[in-house]
Amino acid sequence: MTSSIDGREIQARDGETVLDAARRIGVAIPTLCRGEGTRPDGGCRLCLVEVEGEAGLRAACHTALAAGMRIATRSPRLDALRREILALALHESGDYPFEPDPNGSELARRMSEVGVRTATPTADAPRVIDASHPYLRFERAACIACRRCLHACDEIQGQFVYAMEGRGAATRLVFGLGDSFAESACVACGACVDACPTGAISDRDRASGETAERSVRSTCGYCGVGCQIDVGARGDRVVRIDGARDAAVNRGHLCVKGRYAHGYREAADRLTRPLVREGGRLVPVSWDAAIAFAARRLDEIHRRHGPAAVGAMTSSRSTNEAAYLLQKLFRTRFGTNNVDCCARVCHASTAEALRTVTGTGAATTSFADIERARLIVVAGANATEAHPVIGARIKQRALAGVPLIVIDPRRIELADYAAAHLQLRPGTNVALFNALAREILESGSEDRAYLRERCEGADELAAFLATQDLDAAERATGVASATIRAAGRRIGAAGPVLFVHGLGLSELTQGTESVMALANLAMLTGSIGRAGAGLLPLRGQNNVQGNADMGGAPSHLTGYQPVDDASARARVERVWGAPVAATPGATIPEMLEAAARGDLRALWIQGEDVAQSDPNETAVRAALARLDLLIVQELFVSETARYAHLVLPAAAALEQDGTFTNAERRIQRVRAAVPPPGEARPDWRAVQDVARALGCDWRHGDPASVMDEIARVAPRLFGGVRYDRLDGDGLQWPCPDAMHPGTATVHAEGFVRGRGRLSAIAYRPSPEATGAEFPLTLVTGRVLDHYNVGTMTRRTPSVALAPADWLDLHPSDASGLGLADGDRAAVASRWGSTEARVRYTDRVAPGTCFLTFHFPETHANVLTGPQRDPQSDCPEYKVTAVRVTRAQHAQGESR
Ligand code: SF4
Ligand code: SF4
Ligand code: FES
Repeated sequence: MTSSIDGREIQARDGETVLDAARRIGVAIPTLCRGEGTRPDGGCRLCLVEVEGEAGLRAACHTALAAGMRIATRSPRLDALRREILALALHESGDYPFEPDPNGSELARRMSEVGVRTATPTADAPRVIDASHPYLRFERAACIACRRCLHACDEIQGQFVYAMEGRGAATRLVFGLGDSFAESACVACGACVDACPTGAISDRDRASGETAERSVRSTCGYCGVGCQIDVGARGDRVVRIDGARDAAVNRGHLCVKGRYAHGYREAADRLTRPLVREGGRLVPVSWDAAIAFAARRLDEIHRRHGPAAVGAMTSSRSTNEAAYLLQKLFRTRFGTNNVDCCARVCHASTAEALRTVTGTGAATTSFADIERARLIVVAGANATEAHPVIGARIKQRALAGVPLIVIDPRRIELADYAAAHLQLRPGTNVALFNALAREILESGSEDRAYLRERCEGADELAAFLATQDLDAAERATGVASATIRAAGRRIGAAGPVLFVHGLGLSELTQGTESVMALANLAMLTGSIGRAGAGLLPLRGQNNVQGNADMGGAPSHLTGYQPVDDASARARVERVWGAPVAATPGATIPEMLEAAARGDLRALWIQGEDVAQSDPNETAVRAALARLDLLIVQELFVSETARYAHLVLPAAAALEQDGTFTNAERRIQRVRAAVPPPGEARPDWRAVQDVARALGCDWRHGDPASVMDEIARVAPRLFGGVRYDRLDGDGLQWPCPDAMHPGTATVHAEGFVRGRGRLSAIAYRPSPEATGAEFPLTLVTGRVLDHYNVGTMTRRTPSVALAPADWLDLHPSDASGLGLADGDRAAVASRWGSTEARVRYTDRVAPGTCFLTFHFPETHANVLTGPQRDPQSDCPEYKVTAVRVTRAQHAQGESR
C-alpha cells in the first residue's frame, strides 16, 4: 500500500524512518538531535510530524514509515510546537547569544527556518572556551545538550568520551572524569565537531575564523586506509580538512592525522629550493642546475661503474605516477633492476606469501567486508593507532556483537573489545597459527568442499599438523593450550572469516611463513573469495600498495610482471621502447649492503627517511655516507637528506595531482588543493625533468598521461584505469578494461594461480633469542598521533599530544630492574643502544617492551638488527632482544 508525505506518494521501504523517507523525496523536516551516521536520539522532538488518524504526534527520526501512513510535516500546530521546542531548548541552555542565520551553524539555520530568536542575547558577555587541547575547543555556554557529539563519539569512533550529567535544564555535557578535552580520553578524530549543531565543540581550524575559498576532494596522505578528504583552501593555505561523507572508504570519518596534522606544510624549515652539496654543506641552487647535476653525476657513475652501481628507492609517500617514472628511469636508462620501495621493509612478506598462496600479492577483500563479517581475526595489527578509521570500524563491529579475536603480543586497544585475546610471544605466529589450524581440523569444522574444489596441499598440511603438539605450541607462544583450542574451534565454526593482519606478521624473519600460515587458516575456513571474509593486510604508508604495484621491486615490473619472464619483459619493452634487464636487481637491504661495500655508488631516494626508518640504523648511516651520489626528494632535510649530494624539494600530498592506492587496492585521485611552497615540485615532474636531461624522450604533460601509460604497461591489472574513471570512489584493481568496474573481492571465481595453496610450515624461532645478556624482547611500532618517522606530524600541534617516546615496560619487569615510572632507561641490543623514559603498563606482557620509531631523539632503529626474512628480505623489526638498565641521568629526568 502506498504511503504519502505532505501529499506526495511514496512506497515505504523496510526499516526506513519517516525522516529518511521524506529526505528521499526531497521533503525537509527540521531536526536537531539527529546526527549523520548515528542512531536517532529522539530527545529534541523538533522533527514531530502528524500522522493521519492519530491524535498524538510522532518523531520522524525514529518512526518507521509504515505502508499506508499519511504524514503531514507542516501545519500551524507543528510550526508553533517547533518554535516552542526550539525556544525552550535555547532557554534551558542559558543565555548564549545564538542568532538565526540561514548560512550559519546548523542551529542557526534551524532557528531561521523555525522562526526563533534567543530571548536575551548577551553578545558582550565574555566567552569561556576550553582550549586545553591542541586541536579541539569547547564552549560550554553554546552547548544545548543535544547529545549528538556523544552519539558520534560512541557510534562512529567508539571512544566514549562524553556523558550527560544532571537532569532537565541542569543537564550538562561532561568529558569522562576530567572537565576538559586535554584531560579526556579524546583521540581527536573530530567526529563530534562534525556532529555539533551549535559549534560548542569546534576545532582550531574552524575557530581560526579563516573561511575556505574552495574545497578540493583528495586522498589523505598519511596511512594506507586512503580516507577521502575535502580540503578547504584559501590562497595557498589549507584552512580545514573534512572527511568526505560520500566516500566508500571512510564515510566522512577521519583520524587526528588526516583531519588536523596538516601544519607541517608551512613549517619554517620546509624545503623550497633544490640543495646541492658544496664543500660539505647543502647550498641552494636553481632547478636547472640541480637537474643538470643529477643527470651528469648519474651518467658518469653509470658509465664508469655499470648498471649494478646505481639504484633507486621509490616512495610510498609519493604518487603512483612518481614511483612509476622513477623505476622506469632506472630500468630503461641505466639497465638496472636495482629499484625497490619501502614495501620491502613492511609488507614484502605479505606480498610474497599471498602471491605464492593465491597468485596475487594483495588484499583479497575490501574494507566493506568489515561490516559483513561474521567473525573478525586481527593478527599483528594495532589498527586503532596505525589505521584509525579502520580500527574504529572494527571496534564498532565488536561493540555490535560480532566476535573479534585479537592475536597480538601487546594488549592493544582492540583486545579490550575482543571475545579472545591470544597474547603470544613476539615472533611466534607460525606456531600459533599451526595450532589453530590443527584445532580446526580436529574439530572437523574445515570447509571440505572449498578445500576439495578450490585448494591444493590440504592433505599434506593435515598430515603435518597431526605431528604438531598443542602443549608445544603453548610453550612456544606462551598462550594457554585451552585458549588456543577454544579460539581454533571458534574460528572453524564461524567460517568464512575475515582475517585482518599487519606488520606484526610481516616484519619478522618468518614474515612470509607467518602470512602463509595465516592463509592456511583462511583456506581451511573457506574464506578467500567470499563476501565478508578473506585476507585484509593493512598497509602502513599512504601509497605503499601503489608503490609496489608500480614496479618498486627489483624482481617485478609494473603490475607484478616478473623481470625474468621474457614475454612480460617484451610487453613492457614495447611500451617503453627500451630493453629491460632480465635479472632481478637488489632489494633495499641489499642495496644498502652494496653501498657499504662500495659496489653501489649512486642512489636516488624518493621520500623515504631510511636513516631513521630502516633497521640497524648505524649500518644504514654508514652505507649512505659511502655513496658517491645520493639524490633525495623530500619535504625537509630529513636524517637521510643530511647524507645527500642533491636534495630536490618535493610537493606534499595536499599540493600535487596524482593517485594513491590504498590497502584494499583502491586507486584514488590525489588533487592539489594548494600550490607547493617556493620552487618545490611534484616528484613525477622532477623525475621526468632529470630523465629528459639524460636523453629520455618523455613528454608527459600531466600525471593523467602517466597513468595512461601505466594502463598500457600492465593491462591485466590497470588496463581500465583512466583519470576520467577515478572520480568518486576510484577503482579497485584488477581493472583490466575500460568497461570493467574494478574488483572488490579477488579470487571469487577461483584463485588467480588456479588452486589456492595450503602449506605445511614448521615454526622456526627468531634468531633474536633472549638470554642472560639480553633478557627482554623489544617490539617496535606506532602510536596514533604520529606517523612513520614523524617528519610531518612532529611539525604539527600533534607534538603536544605525544611529545616524546616512552619505553613501555610491564611493572613487574620495571620494578625488578629498579626503574620507576618515568625513569630514564638505557636500552641496549646486540646492534646498538639508546635511551627513553619508562612507562609502566600492563599492555605489554612481562618479558616484552615497546618503543615507537617516530622520534629521532630515540632513534629506535639503532636497536633493531640486520636479520631478514629469507623469502621476502623484510627485516626483523618486531623481535629484538634487549637489555634495559637505568640510564646515567637523574631519576625521572625528562628530555
Ligand atoms: S557539544 Fe554540541 S553536539 Fe555535544 S551536546 Fe553540546 S550542542 Fe550537542
Ligand atoms: S585513517 Fe589513515 S587515511 Fe584515514 S585520516 Fe587517518 S591517517 Fe588518513
Ligand atoms: S531530530 Fe528527531 S527527535 Fe530530535
